[in-house]
Amino acid sequence: MRIAIVGAGNVGTALAVLLQKAGHTITGIASRTEESASKAGQRLGVPYTTDAVQFTRQADFVFLTTPDRVIADVCAQISAKDGFSQGAIIAHTSGAHSSQILNSAKGARTVSFHPLQTFANPDCGIKNLPGSFITIEGQATALPIVRQLVSDLLCRPLEIPTEGKPLYHAAACIACNYFTTLLDMALQVMEAAGINREEGLPALAPLIDGTWNNILRTGIPQALTGPISRGDVTTVETHLEEMGKKIPSALPLYRLLGQTTVDVASFKGTIGETERNELLKILGGTK
Ligand SMILES: NC(=O)c1ccc[n+]([C@@H]2O[C@H](COP(=O)([O-])OP(=O)(O)OC[C@H]3O[C@@H](n4cnc5c(N)ncnc54)[C@H](OP(=O)(O)O)[C@@H]3O)[C@@H](O)[C@H]2O)c1
Repeated sequence: MRIAIVGAGNVGTALAVLLQKAGHTITGIASRTEESASKAGQRLGVPYTTDAVQFTRQADFVFLTTPDRVIADVCAQISAKDGFSQGAIIAHTSGAHSSQILNSAKGARTVSFHPLQTFANPDCGIKNLPGSFITIEGQATALPIVRQLVSDLLCRPLEIPTEGKPLYHAAACIACNYFTTLLDMALQVMEAAGINREEGLPALAPLIDGTWNNILRTGIPQALTGPISRGDVTTVETHLEEMGKKIPSALPLYRLLGQTTVDVASFKGTIGETERNELLKILGGTK
């Protein structure tokens, strides 16, 4: 296919490289600034511009890989200049928004195409994307072509109802972004215990790997271990006391996650009603 990319950032550049590798023709890459457009264009060996319609008019498939906040405006601006060809497929890569924010693309078919992967920079995306899921929804006549494109990227399609996008994206943020924040909190608590971050992160890595392997092998709640899973109330009390003295800023999140972990342990069946109530009481739960 002839594919145009609008938004020469992390996702746009990585998709362009991988689509080109899969044998598609990148008609050109456009961006807000000349700097980003030329960097990506030179990397790909394709024309680049700050005026997207130069390339979008000739494309069978247009990716709008701008920040979420400008996708609808960029789409409307291109459409106002008759920048989409009749029947072309227009996709954005936002996780939270549906294809409906592309309604201004007259005569074209619209979809959302969200790579369920993290792109810290284009090279990380190029390395991590193959094997990932790409979440798709939009106009039915476009979906067979979109599924083929997902397969060309060596990815797997995950189909979602249009109205599910915001909640689906919240789930992805919990699994990816909040996991990062959670580890940052663990490192802060490690520092309060006298172990610096440089030692703390590699020390936690095998524990995280082991946890992840258990989750894959046995699922949740079976993979849950630790004092809450065992009903060791006094151990949790010690955590709370020491955190209160050395790092009280970590207490609210520790308490909240602890209360939710009590639910997982109850579901696992390793704590009874008495331990559940004691744990919730010391964790400040109101359940
Ligand atoms: N990063 C991730 O992990 C990830 C994962 C999945 C999906 N996504 C989604 O992918 C999309 C892009 O994210 P990203 O991380 O690649 O963002 P990014 O690195 O900030 O790149 C966005 C690019 O869009 C360009 N842009 C901004 N305004 C524009 C405009 N009016 N016209 C044309 N280009 C414009 C910027 O150009 P200049 O550099 O020239 O300003 C920038 O290069 C978002 O919808 C995001 O939700 C991101």
